[in-house]
Amino acid sequence: MSNRKQILLVDEEVIMEEEEFIVSKTDLRGNLIYANRTFMRIALYPENKLLGQPHSIMRHPDMPKGVFKLLWQTIKKGDEFFGFVKNICSDGRYYWVFANVTPAYDQQNRPVGYLSVRRKPPLSAINVIKPIYQKMLQIERSENSDKVAEQKSIAYLQSELDKLQLNYQQFVINLFNAK
Ligand SMILES: Cc1cc2nc3c(=O)[nH]c(=O)nc-3n(C[C@H](O)[C@H](O)[C@H](O)COP(=O)(O)O)c2cc1C
Repeated sequence: MSNRKQILLVDEEVIMEEEEFIVSKTDLRGNLIYANRTFMRIALYPENKLLGQPHSIMRHPDMPKGVFKLLWQTIKKGDEFFGFVKNICSDGRYYWVFANVTPAYDQQNRPVGYLSVRRKPPLSAINVIKPIYQKMLQIERSENSDKVAEQKSIAYLQSELDKLQLNYQQFVINLFNAK
């Protein structure tokens, strides 16, 4: 998104505690309407700097577009998404999460927004996911069109899953559980 504020990256990780949950809610376009205190403490934002902002304010450049494409495809269909995400804190440091993103509905069953709960990912999972994301990024950077970039990087991810004979959700949940 073009209006995203540039944050100078700092190569230092902020590690979540095992018992912590980072929670946020967005409207249907992905603008934040709620963040819990753990979110504000780890991402280092006061509430008034978060609410109304697009969730992409914490997007880290190491994250492939293909992962967010999968996220939005999944939640727009009404399904829940699981995935490993590297985010930027407002001071430029980063933190890894295992995220679950689900659609939220009103009483008439109309979609009203999305809810995300994130937990500390095991290091073993991050060690598996990092080279996959790096390869996805490399594929994306070699393409001019965003659309083709996403398609090709998702196709690469799919080829890795095929080798393991797992679907995407099985793959990430297995990684999360393999502590
Ligand atoms: C509930 C919810 C939670 C999200 N959480 C994150 C997040 O923690 N980090 C992130 O970079 N994007 C998150 N996203 C995805 C962003 O909306 C966005 O698609 C992504 O940052 C890529 O930004 P871009 O499309 O502007 O490039 C979330 C989206 C939703 C609906």
